[in-house]
Amino acid sequence: MHALSSLLLLGSVAFQHVLARPSVRAGDFDGAILKRSVDDFVAKEEPIALQELLCNIGASGCNAQGANSGLVVASPSRTDPDYWYTWTRDAALVFTAIVDRFSNKYDAGLQQSIQQYIVAQAKLQTVSNPSGSLSDGSGLGEPKYNVDGSAFTGAWGRPQRDGPALRAIAMIGYSKWLVANGYSSTASSAVWPVIKNDLAYVVQYWNKTGFDLWEEVNGSSFFTTAAQHRALVEGSALAKSLGTTCPGCDAIAPQILCFQQSYWTTNLGGYARANINVNTGRQERDANSILASIHSFDPVLGCDAATFQPCSDRALSSHKVVVDSFRSIYSINSGIPTGYAVAVGRYSEDVYYNGNPWYLNTLAAAEQLYDALYVWQTQKSITITSTSLPFFKDIYPSAVVGSYAAGTQTYTDIYNAVFLYGEGFMNVVQKYIQTNGSIAEQFDRNNGQPLSARDLTWSYAAFLTAAARRAGIVPVGWAVPSASSVPSVCSATSQVGSYSAFTAVSFPSGQTPVTTATSATFTKPTVSATGTPTQTGCPVATAVAVTFTVKKATTFGQTVKIVGSSANLGSWDPTKAVALSANQYTSSNPIWSGTLNLSAGQSFQYKYIVVNTDGTVTWEADPNRSYTAPASCSSTASRSDTWQ
Ligand SMILES: *[C@@H]1O[C@H](CO)[C@@H](O)[C@H](O)[C@H]1NC(C)=O
Ligand SMILES: *[C@@H]1O[C@H](CO)[C@@H](O)[C@H](O)[C@H]1NC(C)=O
Ligand SMILES: *[C@@H]1O[C@H](CO)[C@@H](O)[C@H](O)[C@H]1NC(C)=O
Ligand SMILES: *[C@@H]1O[C@H](CO)[C@@H](O)[C@H](O)[C@H]1NC(C)=O
Ligand SMILES: *[C@@H]1O[C@H](CO)[C@@H](O)[C@H](O)[C@H]1NC(C)=O
Repeated sequence: MHALSSLLLLGSVAFQHVLARPSVRAGDFDGAILKRSVDDFVAKEEPIALQELLCNIGASGCNAQGANSGLVVASPSRTDPDYWYTWTRDAALVFTAIVDRFSNKYDAGLQQSIQQYIVAQAKLQTVSNPSGSLSDGSGLGEPKYNVDGSAFTGAWGRPQRDGPALRAIAMIGYSKWLVANGYSSTASSAVWPVIKNDLAYVVQYWNKTGFDLWEEVNGSSFFTTAAQHRALVEGSALAKSLGTTCPGCDAIAPQILCFQQSYWTTNLGGYARANINVNTGRQERDANSILASIHSFDPVLGCDAATFQPCSDRALSSHKVVVDSFRSIYSINSGIPTGYAVAVGRYSEDVYYNGNPWYLNTLAAAEQLYDALYVWQTQKSITITSTSLPFFKDIYPSAVVGSYAAGTQTYTDIYNAVFLYGEGFMNVVQKYIQTNGSIAEQFDRNNGQPLSARDLTWSYAAFLTAAARRAGIVPVGWAVPSASSVPSVCSATSQVGSYSAFTAVSFPSGQTPVTTATSATFTKPTVSATGTPTQTGCPVATAVAVTFTVKKATTFGQTVKIVGSSANLGSWDPTKAVALSANQYTSSNPIWSGTLNLSAGQSFQYKYIVVNTDGTVTWEADPNRSYTAPASCSSTASRSDTWQ
């Protein structure tokens, strides 16, 4: 997790020149056997991971005795390394995993933990610390606290600006569950006042440097930027649903997304650099980008590259560049050919504990691929661009640029190849964790033995989310239709926020789910090396995110919107129309698109309009268009139109 160590000791990276075994691409393992083995591993490890994760949460966790209620200890390890602290980032990622699990399936015990976490965070926000205090928000950027909730005053890489964003995301997740189940007043009175402080911090400080997620680099971190964007988009949507406002969120979110684009480099085939606005002397290929991708996942965004969706060409290219950077440097990876899973570390120049693979990064490499499979399955096609081609060629050598529809042999072959590649990363984890199921932080680059902190809470969360995605269980999304619109010019604006201590958080008891209806879940196709995936039954979705796309050539300054007979389409009032995004617009394919959240079976009439720079509106010609949102097991759908 942490090392304020010198960055690169030449010669410390032990290159082990092992003669690579000649390897046969097809047939050197049987995909069905690999899958069965991973099935068994996941079934056995899942309950252990959940139990061990909960053990690290105070006050009653079996390995967290002495920690305050609701505080997550990073690891029970108190020496070499001493992780007996609570980190804002780790705790938030752990609780986002818990909230996702809870939202998918009600569990009273998890609900109690979530509520204790929120109570504890409300108190931590008020603790003055070496980063500052709550009065101007600066104290919220403090990375870690003692397990009794007091400030840690030793030297550290501070501030770390991902913490408030990630904590907001975790608390927003629970608030959305409350709203969906009719407990909006609890979300408003008990949680929003805490979330609000963290969002104000993002709005005010996003454009300042800070320490990255590995606590070593003082600059701008891709992971941090992505989390900050998501927090403001999701925070604004929550504010609206609670009938309140999120000051600055709507104005600043697009600017953060704009800035997020600047991490991209086309070097080495293309990847998102981990750190910018700083010179580390590294190439900035880092598992940072894989983690950013899985924590930005929202199936509604499809394979959008601006928000770095797991199946976007940019995120897949980054996956390849990052994974490949570890192939030749760890002995345990030697002899494994390109296109097969390997152990994944933080970055190749890492020297912390001599620089080793990390379980949570290897799990994230699997999770990104499972996320991608989910989206391809729901949108029923896989697209290969020139940016993602090298990724696909590694696992499917005859890949060429194009779109492949579900049902075609190419789609099936690529789908299965990606699935098996993901299974390979799970298999690496299976191979190197302790036999009793405990997951540490790292494993030795030379012999695969567990290393550094034992029972790392984040490792367990990473296992649980990867296992959920593998089972086709995806989180409640965070995006709104404008979430992927990148402004054409970036601006460095921020706004000073107001912060207030709120320590009277309390949750009424008995807030159980109103209905048993759950969101749509998918069962992944069963993979076989040669067969066609088969999809098994799934519940009918109650809400459908429908992406409307219209082909309409426009000039600079014009905006295409959709307006229609239903309230969410503005009831034919063009001033209440929903704006579409031009982020996929090209002169040869002038498309505008946006995603609307509709009730399954909802019918309405609609038209597209062009809003000109001077505010005047040009309507499409008659007739009115009609649409009925599908009521099926899919929670997404799409509609393509051409301007009439
Ligand atoms: C602030 O934002 C501007 C515009 O996106 C960007 O050029 C600059 O690098 C950012 N600086 C930091 C520290 O985020
Ligand atoms: C981090 O970098 C900024 C400049 O980007 C600098 O002002 C600040 O003092 C640095 N912080 C530390 C702890 O070095
Ligand atoms: C596995 O064994 C270690 C001791 O080697 C112990 O600390 C840990 O709690 C055990 N984990 C589980 C899940 O039983
Ligand atoms: C979509 O609407 C449903 C209820 O109709 C709601 O539960 C869900 O949270 C909404 N999703 C988004 C992304 O707004
Ligand atoms: C389209 O819908 C509007 C609003 O209901 C209605 O006034 C108009 O007549 C409709 N157009 C046609 C061609 O039916």
